[in-house]
Amino acid sequence: LIATCGLALMSGAALADPTGCDDGETVVKFSHVTNSDKHPKGIAAALFAERVNEEMEGQMCVEVYPNSTLYDDDKVLEAMLQGDVHMAAPSLSKFETFTKVFQIYDLPFMFKNIEAVDEFQASEAGTEMKASMERRGLSGLEFWHNGLKQFSANKPLIEPEDASGLKFRVQPSDVLVAMIEQLGASAQPMAFAEVYGALQTGVVDGQENSWSNIYGQKFYEVQDGSTETNHGVLDYLVVASTDWLDGLDADVREQLLTILQEVSAERNAAVNEVDQEARQAILDAGGEIRELTDEQRQAWVDAMKPVWEQFAEGVGQENIDAVQAINE
Ligand code: LMR
Repeated sequence: LIATCGLALMSGAALADPTGCDDGETVVKFSHVTNSDKHPKGIAAALFAERVNEEMEGQMCVEVYPNSTLYDDDKVLEAMLQGDVHMAAPSLSKFETFTKVFQIYDLPFMFKNIEAVDEFQASEAGTEMKASMERRGLSGLEFWHNGLKQFSANKPLIEPEDASGLKFRVQPSDVLVAMIEQLGASAQPMAFAEVYGALQTGVVDGQENSWSNIYGQKFYEVQDGSTETNHGVLDYLVVASTDWLDGLDADVREQLLTILQEVSAERNAAVNEVDQEARQAILDAGGEIRELTDEQRQAWVDAMKPVWEQFAEGVGQENIDAVQAINE
């Protein structure tokens, strides 16, 4: 049975074989939207399932549904509150209707690198944010990293002015919309699974995402190229419904959360490697990646960073200051 789950995970298809769990095991449906290969979230979810299915054999069984096969991120949190799915790891940009505290992560050029994200999340302010949705019935369990975000479009983007007049797909976040507007461009929030088609048909001209998503969704096939702006972060929160967690036997819950914590530490430590592998895979597949000089990149900073002012009050100047101190 473990072998069935393992095989399914390795093939990258049919990960959710419903016959993979034994009678009497509590089934944990883990839904996410990305691919499983060369992707920090896909790899972490698969490892989590593998470990639970081996170490909690007879008690619990995790079924991973990747690639938006079960829910897209618009639906998954409501479905979780209904008990139709048990765990998910949406990006921090997707929680806006539940809490605004994660808006700090969408502010452009806020975090220097993933190490700074990690350090902020380990601080008291960062850790407290995990509990920000308890009143809405959702427990934040662990942060999972992905990487920094890059722009791509149907024309070369070198100067910020190159983005002017274009339409970019963004995740559903007011901060990301405002950030794009700062470039004289327009923003179109859209579900992840729809982006490739929208780029291909010209519904949108460009998008912003991490290397692993640009690779995993093959955006490079339908874009002129990507520009290495490193202008934002893509990070996730693993969540479960508080009711569901409370309903588990205490020892089962503890073992599940310990495995999750260990998997998170292990995979978060390896994200930069996965990020660079995905970047290289884009190049190997013939995708174009444009690097910026320091001056060119500074022009993007100057164009986009003023958006901080619009959100400083909401995200808390003290949090912004704390992150900037970490960056130094
Ligand atoms: C997106 O919608 O672009 C990302 O949040 C997808 C993901 O989960 O990495």
